[in-house]
Amino acid sequence: MSTDDGTPAQRTRSWAEPFKIKMVEPLKMTTRAEREVAIREAGYNTFLLRSEDVYIDLLTDSGTNAMSDRQWAGMMLGDEAYAGSRNFYHLEAAVQELYGYRHLVPTHQGRGAEHILSKIMISPGDVVPGNMYFTTTRLHQELAGGTFVDVIIDEAHDPTNLHPFKGNVDLAKLQRVIEQHGADKIPYVCIATAVNMAGGQPISLANLREVRAMCDAHGIRIIHDATRVAENAFFIKEREPGCADMTIAEIVRAICDLTDGCTMSAKKDALVNIGGFLALNDDDLFDAARNMVVIYEGLHTYGGMAGRDMEAVSIGLHESVEYDHIRARVGQVAYLGRKLQDAGVPIVVPIGSHGVFLDARAFLPHLDQDTYPAQALAAEIYLDSGVRTMERGNVSSGRDPATGENRHPRLELVRITLPRRVYTQAHMDVTAESIVEVY
Ligand code: F0G
Repeated sequence: MSTDDGTPAQRTRSWAEPFKIKMVEPLKMTTRAEREVAIREAGYNTFLLRSEDVYIDLLTDSGTNAMSDRQWAGMMLGDEAYAGSRNFYHLEAAVQELYGYRHLVPTHQGRGAEHILSKIMISPGDVVPGNMYFTTTRLHQELAGGTFVDVIIDEAHDPTNLHPFKGNVDLAKLQRVIEQHGADKIPYVCIATAVNMAGGQPISLANLREVRAMCDAHGIRIIHDATRVAENAFFIKEREPGCADMTIAEIVRAICDLTDGCTMSAKKDALVNIGGFLALNDDDLFDAARNMVVIYEGLHTYGGMAGRDMEAVSIGLHESVEYDHIRARVGQVAYLGRKLQDAGVPIVVPIGSHGVFLDARAFLPHLDQDTYPAQALAAEIYLDSGVRTMERGNVSSGRDPATGENRHPRLELVRITLPRRVYTQAHMDVTAESIVEVY
């Protein structure tokens, strides 16, 4: 139940996390000398550090969530039958109720769903427009013979631009892609909510409606990357005219209703440590996906997940749309972001949904992009305090498969990503102090 009706008067009051802690995991504290050895052995790459050498782990919000007592109770109700597990039907019902998609294909995590979707929908020579790329999403599109084309608004590539919906699609760019390649070469438009690589930036309902209209006019499907849809819904409630009185669940449903299916990494919004799914409305596509999942993931009623994991996902999906939860989650990110802003540290604005993104170009203006400023900054923050962050720039972007050259993305970022329900406000203070010190 919400203790706060979300009215402007209530929003100015202090609030705390809508949970209390009943189990703790001790953290190892390290000295700078120990961290110097660890980061050198990791090749100055925070992905290659051992977790036990990390004090506060802000590498990712993926699979790092703390589950609720309800979810842990659900883990004990796992039906580990090979076929027809009752937990599959719970998950199917949760997806149908909350997202509205008709058919569910479980997968071991998000990229499992991307793999199957790409294989059944993309033919060699196809083009897949999207509101910015995600690494695994684009790679699966490329492996299936497709080419990704970025149609996000230009503002998304500018870390200082305050546009409230930097995840929006530029309709003129999308129109040009359709004219240039023809609708029959576009199997679907890929729409992410709370666009990760843009800094956790939302798309508006109004923009998505316009994308829908353009796609309908050309008979093109829309597939939604729903990984952080509840976080996107929170920003819509806060910022989009006419949406303040909608519940998070209503906004999530409105987004999904404008799309034809989704890929989902349940390791984010859905508050679990592993899991994912593909959801589709079309019967024929569902048949194709069901035939494919059994080859790559597992039978169509478990798709790589244990029964207990499917139960935890279905409970987590319901928790993800609770207003108090999502406000505290996005609110903790805003708390950290504002501390850094107040100290003049260059971050991507507006502050995003799942993390604060440091603008490594502005932070380290003397470094050329081919000397990997974001990677260097992530290593330096670890050295200072044992806080682990993630490079999201020239290294993440990879090399052009045709030329072998670095892609030089416009955004050269370090992501400080917050696991859900894991760290306290004091951890945020320690993190901010370290980054301010490094700056
Ligand atoms: N889509 C988005 C927007 C993601 O952020 C991720 C994962 C995936 C798909 C793939 O899902 O990991 O379950 O296979 N993002 C993680 C991150 C890895 O750290 O941002 P997955």
